[in-house]
Amino acid sequence: MRLILLGPPGAGKGTQAEYITSKYAIPHISTGDIFRKNIKEGTELGKRAKSYMDQGALVPDSLVVEIVEDRLKEADCKEGFLLDGFPRTEVQADELDKVLENLGVSLNAVINIKVNPDVLVSRAVGRRICKNCGATYHILNNASKVEGVCDKCGGELYQRTDDVEETVKNRIDVYMNETAPLISYYSSKNVLVDIEGEQDIKLVFEDIVKALRG
Ligand code: AP5
Ligand code: ZN
Repeated sequence: MRLILLGPPGAGKGTQAEYITSKYAIPHISTGDIFRKNIKEGTELGKRAKSYMDQGALVPDSLVVEIVEDRLKEADCKEGFLLDGFPRTEVQADELDKVLENLGVSLNAVINIKVNPDVLVSRAVGRRICKNCGATYHILNNASKVEGVCDKCGGELYQRTDDVEETVKNRIDVYMNETAPLISYYSSKNVLVDIEGEQDIKLVFEDIVKALRG
């Protein structure tokens, strides 16, 4: 299964990615996670990406495309993959088309998770992540039982630096201007599936599975 997860910041892409990659046994490729790992490790890529991410702006296409291209050529992507947070611009979508063509494969579906902007802000601002295992929580709907501590591994929970209200609003604007045009791009290729993202996490997943069954 070769899939893209499309949707604004806080739509639930990362949350659904966990379920999807486990059900279909495919690797989860999140460009946001790749950048955050590089920032944590202090790499040159991380240093260059950080200033853009802190403002809620997009990292330049030239820094993103090569990383994804290299990743898709790895052996574990042969049978499929889930791209989360890529492509985010028309340039990235064009480049991805070329990479897939060179690999001789095509996309099964682009899953478009739809959530209204007012809901997105509270979802992102209330998100907490485990420093140790990466599990995602929300202070309102799936808070860990012990405040500030991960239920799965006991790790400390933290808030992403770009999950403050002003930056989240900026990220949503950037999504509307740069990424939302990809909805019609993939719709015209007949691979887009719209998913109602404002329902229980498990129900969102059920709808995705149904849509992928076709
Ligand atoms: P990235 O890491 O990709 O972030 P994003 O797209 O802004 O998405 P988020 O991770 O914020 O949200 P999500 O949809 O995964 O939501 P989640 O499941 O966590 O990108 C970050 C930055 O990196 C970008 O701003 C950019 O600078 C850079 N970048 C990355 N890729 C790039 C690219 N290709 N090109 C250029 N720059 C790039 O859920 C959010 C919260 O809601 C959680 O608390 C969760 O528990 C809760 N929640 C989830 N689903 C539900 C539900 N159904 N009901 C109630 N609550 C829910
Ligand atoms: Zn944990």
